Amino acid sequence: MSNVLIIGATSAIAIAFARQCASRKDRLFLVARNATRLQMLVDDLQARGAVAIASQLLDVSRLDRHVEVLSAAVKFLKILDVVLIAHGSLPDQQVCETNPSALQQALQINGNATINLLALVANRLQSQHCGALLVISSVAGDRGRASNYVYGAAKAAVSTFASGLRNRLYRDNVRVITVKPGFVDTPMTVSFDKGLLWAQPETIARGMQRAIDRRRNVVYLPAFWRWIMWLIRAVPESIFKRLSL
Ligand SMILES: NC(=O)c1ccc[n+]([C@@H]2O[C@H](COP(=O)([O-])OP(=O)(O)OC[C@H]3O[C@@H](n4cnc5c(N)ncnc54)[C@H](OP(=O)(O)O)[C@@H]3O)[C@@H](O)[C@H]2O)c1
Repeated sequence: MSNVLIIGATSAIAIAFARQCASRKDRLFLVARNATRLQMLVDDLQARGAVAIASQLLDVSRLDRHVEVLSAAVKFLKILDVVLIAHGSLPDQQVCETNPSALQQALQINGNATINLLALVANRLQSQHCGALLVISSVAGDRGRASNYVYGAAKAAVSTFASGLRNRLYRDNVRVITVKPGFVDTPMTVSFDKGLLWAQPETIARGMQRAIDRRRNVVYLPAFWRWIMWLIRAVPESIFKRLSL
């Protein structure tokens, strides 16, 4: 049995992960911004076997509330064995190109808020000398593309920050796992046409659990994205800038 904190708990990927935890009879502290959906999730996880669940509402863009929410989680769980930071939003790239407040909001949710939570949770795990900290970044953070570089830039910042934390916390027995999904069929991507490269949230959740069990550092999910992104990163900038991706 593990003590698990999930931030952005109503995300489709986080729900799939939380269900795995519930069926293993873990203790859960869930954080999300929508009260109705959060309560539905609590009921669902209780029915699936979670031993104890508490929850708290948080709009992650309220950085001033992060300390308070983390304190509530620690009070309930005591030791944090696993922490998953899963929230995110896919901004409208074209709107962000001309609207500075939309740009700032996209960077705040996908970048600043995630990094602030990573920093706070990392300090807590360091003081415990144990724990696994998973953060959902994205393959979009591996290279900027015209169609989504605002989201990609925020995810790149998250991946780099997580890399530094992993390096810093290695000697404290704290594992930092960067999760880089490719295309996942969730509410975030509801308007996209789906094809062969698309995965279900349950596949990503299973991959995240495997990453914890195998003490992985950076996981592309599904794994074939590692090779796709290797190829994409290998394209020289002089050619890449001419492509429509
Ligand atoms: N789907 C993909 O193709 C894909 C690919 C790579 C990475 N990812 C990443 O995977 C993670 C999970 O996303 P998903 O695909 O599972 O999509 P999702 O189901 O749409 O989940 C996104 C979650 O983020 C929450 N959220 C957004 N803004 C928030 C805020 N200001 N405060 C609190 N919560 C907020 C949403 O809350 P509400 O329920 O209240 O809206 C929702 O629960 C995200 O970090 C995303 O960037 C997704």
